[in-house]
Amino acid sequence: MSEKAFYVTTPIYYVNDAPHIGHAYTTVAGDVLTRWHRQRGERVHFLTGTDEHGQKILRAADAAGMTPQQWCDHMVETAWKPMLTAIDAANDDFIRTTQERHVTRVQEFWARLHDQGEVYEGSYTGPYCVACEEFKVPGELLQPGDRCPIHDREVEMIAESNWFFRLSAYQQRLLDAYASGEIRIEPESARNEVLRFVEGGLQDISMSRSTFDWGITVPWDPSHVIYVWIDALLNYWTAVEGSEQYWPADVHLVGKDILRFHAVIWPAMLLAAGLPLPRLVFANGWLLVGGEKMSKTKLTGIPPQQITDHFGSDAYRYYFLRELAFGADGSFSWESMAARYSSELADQFGNLASRLTSMVGRYREGVLPGGRLDEGVAKAMRTAVAEAEAGIDALDFQAAITAVMTFVRTVNGYVTDTAPWKVAKEAAQDAARSAELDDILYTSADALRAMAVLLNPVLPKACATLWASLGAPGALADARVQQVADEHLPAGVTVTKSEPLFPRLEA
Ligand code: MSP
Repeated sequence: MSEKAFYVTTPIYYVNDAPHIGHAYTTVAGDVLTRWHRQRGERVHFLTGTDEHGQKILRAADAAGMTPQQWCDHMVETAWKPMLTAIDAANDDFIRTTQERHVTRVQEFWARLHDQGEVYEGSYTGPYCVACEEFKVPGELLQPGDRCPIHDREVEMIAESNWFFRLSAYQQRLLDAYASGEIRIEPESARNEVLRFVEGGLQDISMSRSTFDWGITVPWDPSHVIYVWIDALLNYWTAVEGSEQYWPADVHLVGKDILRFHAVIWPAMLLAAGLPLPRLVFANGWLLVGGEKMSKTKLTGIPPQQITDHFGSDAYRYYFLRELAFGADGSFSWESMAARYSSELADQFGNLASRLTSMVGRYREGVLPGGRLDEGVAKAMRTAVAEAEAGIDALDFQAAITAVMTFVRTVNGYVTDTAPWKVAKEAAQDAARSAELDDILYTSADALRAMAVLLNPVLPKACATLWASLGAPGALADARVQQVADEHLPAGVTVTKSEPLFPRLEA
């Protein structure tokens, strides 16, 4: 059997409403991580999808006068899949929890746990937030009015007979798994939150609901449906059929609000089933609006297409990972988006590409001369590769991108300092000056080749254009990050000027 793929997941998104940039944020991060690992030559499997059961979806469908399945189909096709296209996501699979492959395996999974005595019948009375689809502990509610701390909306009191999963039995085994690194929780703040929570003791949790029927039927008790979270978490496993080619997942990317589900309940379910645990759960921060989590309920959600229509998908991807620290909260603003676009993508990266390609056209008739590589530039390239690799391994996208952009700046500075347009004036009469010009053109073109490889995971459209305009041999997809500082453009390739990679913004 072939080697295990590097397996990356995003949360599966509720289809009660259309996506906003908070949802797209995690997907962009997963996509850049995926493309980076592919650029290393690894086989990668990137999964995203939609969470379609439960009361929240049922109510949205009712309000729209559709059946829940009609509503889900409609939202997936008109809103969620188009979002992936808008942000240029290269996911390998898209799972929907209403798909047969998921439903069958969820039922098999829970039937097995039921047979093993991991599940018992009980009753639940207490608060429930439908927006979170979560049973709440009275102590965590906001007062007055028993409001959900995430949605700031009144919770509902429910009393129903349910099936329970013996989560409490897994406290010590979870603590052992965190301590040994069998499952890693990052960043540090997320890990601490999970440790404190589990050390405080675990309650058994309800794994079914019995007061509505939009869900997966409990196989041994058809009057119940499986609680939506218990159904949804299994998507990571059902999508790959539990195949050893993929499982365990290498990275589950999740928002910090759904950390406990992923770092406590999910691994406990896997332990109960005797399955390997995911290697890493990484909790990203929230996009805030006016200091609060961006949300559709609060009418603060911005659709990703509103931004990609104006700036393009590359700049969108770049902005969110460059501007915000991945594990922390942050805010979007049109001003900072425009500033990053202009000062970094247009004036630095795009401008360097256009300067070099026009000079090779003007001074060398579009044929790249051979030349000696500048040592300072070569050294800066090595540093950029090492720092970018370390950044990606730590899921510090900001550090990784900053490392490459520092290199872009260095090369722009090199071109400005060596002033090839001045050298070119004397090159016709002076062979030494002509060789100097060759060195500058060759060094800059080779640096751009490296940038195309290093930025390809973030800026796939611009880098494909750049790669073609440099006349670089072979496919960009086959260029390896690890070798980028050891391989070089061959002399004699045809360099052509392209459209600007990042056209200047109109006012
Ligand atoms: N369906 C569940 C996840 C199940 S995974 C087995 C869910 N869906 S969600 O659509 O409400 O949220 C999906 C993800 O979007 C979560 O990781 C959540 O943190 C993220 N975000 C929603 N709003 C967000 C922001 N404003 N900012 C950043 N991420 C946010 O929860």
